[in-house]
Amino acid sequence: MSSPLLEIKGLKKYFLRQQAFWQKWTGKKEYIYAVDGVSFSVNKGETVGLVGESGCGKSTLGRTILRLYEPTAGEIYFDGEKINDLRGDELLQLRRRMQIIFQDPFASLNPRQTVEKIIGLPLKIQGMKGRELSERIDELLEQVGLARVHRKRFPHQFSGGQRQRVGIARALAVNPSFVVADEPVSALDVSIQAQIINLLQELQEKMGLTYLFIAHDLSVVSYVSDRIVVMYLGQVMEMGPAEEIFSSPQHPYTKALLSSIPRIGKKNPSTGRIILEGSVPSPLNPPAGCKFNTRCFIKNKPAACFHEPPPLIEGAPGHYAACHLLG
Ligand SMILES: Nc1ncnc2c1ncn2[C@@H]1O[C@H](COP(=O)(O)OP(=O)(O)OP(=O)(O)O)[C@@H](O)[C@H]1O
Ligand SMILES: [Mg+2]
Repeated sequence: MSSPLLEIKGLKKYFLRQQAFWQKWTGKKEYIYAVDGVSFSVNKGETVGLVGESGCGKSTLGRTILRLYEPTAGEIYFDGEKINDLRGDELLQLRRRMQIIFQDPFASLNPRQTVEKIIGLPLKIQGMKGRELSERIDELLEQVGLARVHRKRFPHQFSGGQRQRVGIARALAVNPSFVVADEPVSALDVSIQAQIINLLQELQEKMGLTYLFIAHDLSVVSYVSDRIVVMYLGQVMEMGPAEEIFSSPQHPYTKALLSSIPRIGKKNPSTGRIILEGSVPSPLNPPAGCKFNTRCFIKNKPAACFHEPPPLIEGAPGHYAACHLLG
């Protein structure tokens, strides 16, 4: 088994809630527990899928890993080095090695800049200029399936899929080894989603990339992931090899996510369709005990579900779940 490129231990990111002026008088601070103690690793060349409903902290986790947000607690190791405290030049060097592809290519590309400016910016920051810069831009455009003629165009002159190709070219410009793909296809038509996923996979093979691939449902990550991490309200509920998550999900939340995928020709391992009631509780005031307890459909739950957070237990090699019912 290859060594981890990324390892996080007990990673937390809390946001201080913006308060109205009268609330500030009371002096009481409120926190949004967006990521609340997450540990896992991503091996070199691997794709780890990170899934969970909207608002469960996936983007916050991805951005904290990349040091775009300062972690509240916990440790981040990249290629064996602790990166929590990197600053200045060292942080700039790290940015070359870790990049992000954003969910909404339209919102993440500057509408007033041409494609060559957008893709060229990270290269310029790293000191590239002149002919070398120009040739690198052409090379990147070709790698993502665009052409030289696209250099002078603005983001609004592209289709959604092409815009995401520009976003991918920008992320890959500095030759990173690790890429957080934050819902890279959610904003695209289904027919285009497959093209972009194929492109990401081709690039992974060619460039030896390692991906953390974020999605809000399991169907997208099923195509790409070697392992899957299932998140709920800032915590990991289950993680393990992708095929095991699909064939023998352990956590009730994973079972519910799986049962919501329409499947053709395959027997659904969960018994029937599970409809989760309500929505994810607010991360301002998460439930005590297991964070999933307010929506868990298991009848006659033990008292521990309401008082004690369940630990992540390795039930099969490399397959972990956090649920009191798994003994
Ligand atoms: N910069 C911020 N300041 C304050 N709260 C934030 C910030 N970013 C995210 N949050 C809050 O943290 C929680 C997790 O948000 P996050 O964007 O990480 O979720 P997500 O899983 O990526 O959701 P989605 O699938 O909708 O993209 C949410 O309650 C969100 O409102
Ligand atoms: Mg998100």
